[in-house]
Amino acid sequence: MTKVTVVGAGNVGATCANVLAHMDILKHVHLLDIQGSMAQGKALDTWQQAPIDSYSTYLTGSDNYADTAGSDIVVITAGIPRKPGMSRDDLVSTNAKIVASVTENILKYSENPIIIIVSNPLDVMTYAAYKKSGLDSTRVIGMAGVLDTARYRAFLATEIGVSPKDIQAVLMGGHGDTMVPLPRYTTVSGIPVTELVEKDKLEAIIDRTTNGGGELVKLMGTSAWYAPGAAAAQMVEAIVKDEKRIFPCCAYLTGQYGIDDLCVGVPVVLGKGGIERIIELQLQDDEKAGLAKSAAAVKEIVDAYNAMGL
Ligand code: NAI
Ligand code: 2OP
Repeated sequence: MTKVTVVGAGNVGATCANVLAHMDILKHVHLLDIQGSMAQGKALDTWQQAPIDSYSTYLTGSDNYADTAGSDIVVITAGIPRKPGMSRDDLVSTNAKIVASVTENILKYSENPIIIIVSNPLDVMTYAAYKKSGLDSTRVIGMAGVLDTARYRAFLATEIGVSPKDIQAVLMGGHGDTMVPLPRYTTVSGIPVTELVEKDKLEAIIDRTTNGGGELVKLMGTSAWYAPGAAAAQMVEAIVKDEKRIFPCCAYLTGQYGIDDLCVGVPVVLGKGGIERIIELQLQDDEKAGLAKSAAAVKEIVDAYNAMGL
């Protein structure tokens, strides 16, 4: 695998391309955006960083889909971000049209790519891209869980006073305030988190995680980009290097966890084929109920998307 296209050269897309370049695992990253020469400028700027930071990945940018030809992986970040007072779901009508047209255009020039969706509302945009693309469901993957678990792990690391590298966690459900962090599957170098953090503090951290995106919108006036861009790049890395990493990703489900015909966050194995396996955990009743509630919230927006008839 050599070429990755990132569509949308805004905050998240440009960050993702920059992190990918620093990984130095690709021959070529192309940035595409509808805003005139902006993508070209950001790609050139990142290429000029190569001699300083010592990487060889070549970057180009344009507003022309012909330049995306032969992409192995396409990361879609195109769309509008949240502003204060907006939920991710408020973005559905604008971003659904954008994601549908981006998906169609990409497939004119790249055969059978793996598509990673970042645009919000994430679970619905992943569903839209999957339906529009006609690709196998293993090849259309939403990025949310890697970011949401990173937030959860960062908050836990601060609380416990340890490295965030040593915190492993699983989180399921939609990318919204119904997401389901799972303390039963959270460990600190193998030690159950419940042995290190008191119950009320853990509950406060879970609450902060589920509202993690909104916290940053309030602080910055727009949604986050450093951790989201890096999260998408980490998924690309797992695929390019065929790492078989287990990440929570938004995947099209066909009955797993009792959920059918929806894209929702679940633990998956990521490798060169995209989603190589969906891991089905034996959830307890309260965890199952949390996931069902989250899936129902996603379904409501999917129904609204389907009613748009795009
Ligand atoms: P941004 O506004 O900085 O960048 C978006 C870019 O998309 C703009 O440069 C715009 O020109 C471009 N764009 C719009 N329509 C396009 C089209 N038809 N074709 C190509 N490019 C197009 O926004 P930002 O902060 O980069 O966020 C991008 C999206 O990612 C938003 O929908 C945001 O909500 C979402 N997001 C999702 C996260 C997740 O965890 N899944 C985390 C953070 C952001
Ligand atoms: C985030 O979680 C808004 O989805 C975006 O930061």
